[in-house]
Amino acid sequence: MFPQIRMRRLRYGKLKEMVQENDLSVSDLIYPFFVDETASEKIEVASMPGVFRWPPALAVDAAREAYNLGIPAVLIFGIPKTKDALGTSSYGDDDVVQKAVRAIKAEFGNDLIVITDLCMCEYTDHGHCGIVNFETHDVVNDLTLPILGKIAVSHARSGADIVAPSGMMDGMIEAIRLALDENGFENTPIMSYSSKYASVFYGPFRDAADSGFCFGDRSEYQMNPANGDEAIREAELDVLEGADILMVKPGMPYLDIVYRIKQEFKMPLAIYQVSGEYAMIKAAAEKGWLDEEKCFYEACISMKRAGSDMIITYYAKELTKIIKEKA
Ligand code: PBG
Repeated sequence: MFPQIRMRRLRYGKLKEMVQENDLSVSDLIYPFFVDETASEKIEVASMPGVFRWPPALAVDAAREAYNLGIPAVLIFGIPKTKDALGTSSYGDDDVVQKAVRAIKAEFGNDLIVITDLCMCEYTDHGHCGIVNFETHDVVNDLTLPILGKIAVSHARSGADIVAPSGMMDGMIEAIRLALDENGFENTPIMSYSSKYASVFYGPFRDAADSGFCFGDRSEYQMNPANGDEAIREAELDVLEGADILMVKPGMPYLDIVYRIKQEFKMPLAIYQVSGEYAMIKAAAEKGWLDEEKCFYEACISMKRAGSDMIITYYAKELTKIIKEKA
């Protein structure tokens, strides 16, 4: 007895390439980086080798590295020089993100898509993603919404192509959509961090962005990692409120959520390979336990297979080189 059906027939040479179902391409990638108003030179993030905080004067250089490789989009995070309880350094026309966006758009125009992370946690001294009631230690949802609207408008005014709210406040997409529309930015898309989990994998980011919190955690607004159906409801609400692009975050531990959201909504979908995922692979590679390039490639093609259209990854530049070598 021999097998009639042999899967191995299609696993040789060129034929194997012809039957490949998914691919990773440079146009899928979004390169995130940090602009730090307190820095005067590039500072490497200790827990994220190869990732830097860029001083405002070098923000254009950071973007240029991505642009030169053909990466279509960057995602900008700001680290302000002053923080207060109300996050007031997040929405001024001359604050860190707004200035960086203006400079980058002046340099690259429509040849590079600039996405801004829209959240308060990097700008508040308590590190939470909204206005805090200090008696109850609660983040007050509805007081936070108008501020998110203000930040969105300031980002759009500085030239941001897409705003990406990541604070997981209820109603934030609607509030931001209304604020943008009222100010003449009805054509600015919203990429919503729609299904964002309260994840320990954000650890290294909080070093990078100086956005650790001084009390509590984010589990009262970010999602419980045990839940799947809830991620669908979160995404559905954002769709109804006007989100243009959905997102799942973190990436690799949540591929089931990516798959479900893509099946359910057929919307453009981004996935965020977060700081902890990056740090894990980097650390194992440093020890010689994993092949760094192959590991990132496999992780990212798995994200495509699960259904994501776009991948936000700190490894975007290196991936671009790997993709080009494969071609
Ligand atoms: C919030 C924000 C965070 C990340 C992106 N946007 C941190 C958080 O929610 O605690 C994490 C990204 C990463 O870990 O790479 N502004």
